[in-house]
Amino acid sequence: MHPRHFDMAKLLKVLVIGGGGREHALCWAISKSPQVREIFCTPGNAGIAEIAKIPTIQDKSNSGLVQFAKTEEIDLTIVGPEQPLSEGLVDAFKTAGLRVFGPTKAAAQLESSKAFSKEFMRRHAIPTAPFQVFDKSDEAIRFISGAEGPLVVKADGLAGGKGVVVCRSREEAEAAVQTIMVERVFGDAGNKIIIERGLVGEELSIMAFADGTRAVAMIPARDHKRLEDGDKGPNTGGMGAYAPARTVEDEVLEEISERILNRTIEGMREEGIPYTGILYAGLMITEAGPKVLEFNCRFGDPEAQVVLPLLNTDIINVIGAALAGLLHMEPLEWRDEYCAGVVLTARGYPGRYEGGVPIDGNTSTEQGNVFCFHGGTTREASGKLMSSGGRIVGVYARSSTHEGAVASAYSAVDRVRIKGAHYRRDIGLRTRRIMRPRRLETGSRR
Ligand code: AMP
Ligand code: GLY
Repeated sequence: MHPRHFDMAKLLKVLVIGGGGREHALCWAISKSPQVREIFCTPGNAGIAEIAKIPTIQDKSNSGLVQFAKTEEIDLTIVGPEQPLSEGLVDAFKTAGLRVFGPTKAAAQLESSKAFSKEFMRRHAIPTAPFQVFDKSDEAIRFISGAEGPLVVKADGLAGGKGVVVCRSREEAEAAVQTIMVERVFGDAGNKIIIERGLVGEELSIMAFADGTRAVAMIPARDHKRLEDGDKGPNTGGMGAYAPARTVEDEVLEEISERILNRTIEGMREEGIPYTGILYAGLMITEAGPKVLEFNCRFGDPEAQVVLPLLNTDIINVIGAALAGLLHMEPLEWRDEYCAGVVLTARGYPGRYEGGVPIDGNTSTEQGNVFCFHGGTTREASGKLMSSGGRIVGVYARSSTHEGAVASAYSAVDRVRIKGAHYRRDIGLRTRRIMRPRRLETGSRR
């Protein structure tokens, strides 16, 4: 059965909110849909401009974006990043009667408040590290002095991926409390902190489409958060990724799908905060099974860039089914292939980095089985492509083997030239085990 959730007599105008590699990959996936007439993306970037219109919108507030969508008669809006979700952009579109894909502000608390998310997991017996929430620094310090074993200190609110300190000692944990709660380096995001047990294992990211009632898992992906080879150096937004990441057995994937993803969607519905959109579970696969490190309420970046090129199903149908509460009618079909890629970052990133560096070489979106998804790029009036962000471009490749995907991503990255840029040379090379996946039960067809 192939339900069509949009009126097929009319080709769609789609608006994507965001301007990073994730949104470039999303725009690319949307551009493959025969149901789409026109794609707009704001703020976009120079790579996205190859496949979508970048409109000039003076007022980028929620109401400004609603106004734009009304004036342009946008049929569907998809929100990429967490910030606008946490600021209620989806609520504003819904109130205006516009069709929009993403969680409401209340549902996005699964990412925007780690205290909410951890307490939610406790209420619904979703496996996660034991934790306590504190809103006073002296109580947190007292707790640390009596705590046993490794600790992780997390700012409650959004901190651009920097609000988590995995501590090697009690002194480090106390220093983290000081930085977050007393010096308030993340502002109000540090009004509360979570102190949790440090977990040991392999990390894995699983994203799912959610329709308010159920979650349908995508293939697992592996991100590489640290700046340097061998997982050294500071945490970044993500230096490269691959999919499918097969560090776990199929049974474990099924357990993740049922006991974590579906239970989360059910729990949110039970609490009167139905969740529609992308649910991303950052997991630690421990000896005692998978545990949730964090939820994100959107596609991962760079996970989206390696997962979307493997999705065979028309993403517009999947999103339409999710919005109609009918995800079970639109199973996900995956290419029997692998995708891997690496991100080129500006000199100095993730600290202060230089912008305005010329980019040479082939950076077009699709080059056969190679994809270049831009993160921070702009095009000057002269036509010259320049860097404008920390993660400048990512180069990804699709192949029938994992090793093939890694090798072609690396040979393509050599054809991009950006002075002073850095990239990791070990993406996808430290995989413990790569198995041909059996399809996920909740996400299979055939
Ligand atoms: P988060 O933003 O919560 O995913 O945390 C960022 C990173 O910190 C994760 O990708 C993990 O590498 C690490 N991390 C978070 N929580 C824990 C934990 N309980 N034990 C060990 N590492 C953790
Ligand atoms: N790649 C991790 C994230 O998107 O948060």
